[in-house]
Amino acid sequence: MCNHCKGNYYITTPIYYPSSNLHIGHAYCTVATDTMARYKRLQGYNVCFLTGTDEHGQKIEDKAKEAGVTPQQFVDNIVLGEKGVLDLWKLMNISHDRFIRTTDDYHVEAIQKIFKMMYERGDIYKGEYSGKYCKPCESFWTESQLVDGKCPDCGREVQDAKEEAYFFRLSKYADRVRDLLENTDFLQPRSRVHEMVNNFIKPGLNDLCVSRTSFTWGVPVDFDEGHVVYVWIDALFNYMTALGFQNDKKTGLEEFWPADVHFVGKEIVRFHAIIWPAMLMSLDLPLPKKVYGHGWLNFNGEKMSKSRGNVVDPYILAQRFGVDALRFFLLRTFPFGSDGNFTNELLINTINIDLANTLGNLVSRTTAMSQKYFDGQLTAGGETAELDGELKALADEVVAAYEKHMDGFQFSNALSEVFRLLDRANKYIDETTPWVLAKSEDTKPRLLQVMKNLCEAIRISAILVSPFMPDSSKSILDLLNVAAEGRTWDALRFCGCTNCSWSTTVGAPLFPRIDMEKELKELEELSKPPVPELEIEPYDEENVDFDTFCKSDLRAVKVKDCCNVKKSDKLLQFTLDDGTGTDRQILSGIAKYYKPEELIGKTLVAITNLPPRKMMGRESCGMLLSAVHTEKGEEKLQLLMVSDSIPAGAKLC
Ligand code: MSP
Repeated sequence: MCNHCKGNYYITTPIYYPSSNLHIGHAYCTVATDTMARYKRLQGYNVCFLTGTDEHGQKIEDKAKEAGVTPQQFVDNIVLGEKGVLDLWKLMNISHDRFIRTTDDYHVEAIQKIFKMMYERGDIYKGEYSGKYCKPCESFWTESQLVDGKCPDCGREVQDAKEEAYFFRLSKYADRVRDLLENTDFLQPRSRVHEMVNNFIKPGLNDLCVSRTSFTWGVPVDFDEGHVVYVWIDALFNYMTALGFQNDKKTGLEEFWPADVHFVGKEIVRFHAIIWPAMLMSLDLPLPKKVYGHGWLNFNGEKMSKSRGNVVDPYILAQRFGVDALRFFLLRTFPFGSDGNFTNELLINTINIDLANTLGNLVSRTTAMSQKYFDGQLTAGGETAELDGELKALADEVVAAYEKHMDGFQFSNALSEVFRLLDRANKYIDETTPWVLAKSEDTKPRLLQVMKNLCEAIRISAILVSPFMPDSSKSILDLLNVAAEGRTWDALRFCGCTNCSWSTTVGAPLFPRIDMEKELKELEELSKPPVPELEIEPYDEENVDFDTFCKSDLRAVKVKDCCNVKKSDKLLQFTLDDGTGTDRQILSGIAKYYKPEELIGKTLVAITNLPPRKMMGRESCGMLLSAVHTEKGEEKLQLLMVSDSIPAGAKLC
């Protein structure tokens, strides 16, 4: 820390899964973290702001396979590629000091050391895992934690999983973690404490499975080949490896650890408020000072997710409305600890009311009047009045309240305070009626002071909004020609004396008003999925002679049962009535397109005289026919279904 700094401040975002492009929900947390980092820098802290990507795990491995590239190529493309994670943070004006990727060599090596340290301390031991696994969330669950048999976090199907695995003695730390949650301010908002204690600690904390053998895309356990470290251990320690913990490549551990706050979404509070402190306790390391679990940004009442098809693209919004307006909207509209429902109407309304009307108008009216009445030169001199004291008192009150809310991560409340000042300043114009004062030379000194007070209110507001809207804040302060020392945290005192002078300029409108109806229509057009180009599988050029074709035994088969094949996201296993009285089993790579339950009772077409084939250790006797076509560059399969009136076993010719 330098002599002039107030102290060190370390703040982090979660590290994002680069399994597909990020959306506005991810941007929400990063913008909040960035705003907090900028606020602390403004106050004079030596800030380290870390973000990054969580690149290991089965989901990434599967996605890469689907895309026909290596997992590393896959994540490189999403992180470094055009409109990837780094591009998005640049666009959103994110001022991170460090960016970690869990595939970075130094991190991988450090994770291997950390895993071994916990093993050597006896807090990691070898056992057998059997339970339920949610692949998209990379989470293990016990039967009792499932909700309606599905993953309690995302509501999707879980799979049975059983294998030799390492376990972390989470149960050993249950009491200490409970004490941490209940008796300190470690986890905020407070409501999240009750969730954690009631849902996870009171039912009893089980030891946690911390290695996998069913896939390879992860950090290898270096003393036991075939095991990879559970992604959440790999991920959580990023907060320390990025500062040089167990590696020489990075520095800053002494300055910045323990972290001042981890911002995380509500569904991953469990990992940060229970597992993370327990692992740190196991290694006798200091715990982060705070974890803040923010709410979700929903769309039409549902969490945004690629699979639900309701993601909002930050690129489109930033291009149309400007990055600052978008950043402002996210933090002004939704209280940080609660869920919020994103709508385009709300976004446009917020921009029109707060930014165009209140802030934009105040700046343009003030600079225009300063230009008109004083050629932009507000010199020393002027005449004060009682009303000025009210404006000054409010400004000072607003600064104090803003600080309190920002320190409590209450961004929307902090901005409400700024708008209290902006509203008051707009009212001050109506009360002082500068256009009347301008009519007589006698009232010119009063007019001069009114203009300077308005500039002062704008200057203070612009400093306060700078963490939220860095570029707009700078533009406003530039219009008022505020010197560097007048833009600092220490300069947040309303002066209002007659000695000050200002030199102002008129600029283009900062936040042009948006035509709601027109804009909504255009946004709707933009969000429509492009018309899929349909491609039909080309005919095979090679001819099959008639007799050979006739040898294929095509039969109608009725689906008696259908289920997913464990550890395969492609195969469905069918039990079929083929009219012979003995069930026929066929495996088909159709799982991507159907849920098993949709197919039970349907009559399909199968080739029944193919030799049996083994797939994933099971026998498949025949092949189900399906139609192949390509939609939006992606191959699609549709099972051939025939009328239910055709009996099972009927020969098709
Ligand atoms: N990789 C883990 C985090 C590991 S941290 C050691 C992960 N990644 S994630 O990409 O799925 O989510 C990252 C963050 O984005 C989470 O905090 C999550 O809550 C947040 N969000 C994802 N969608 C969101 C919304 N729609 N709204 C708000 N935040 C959202 O979890």
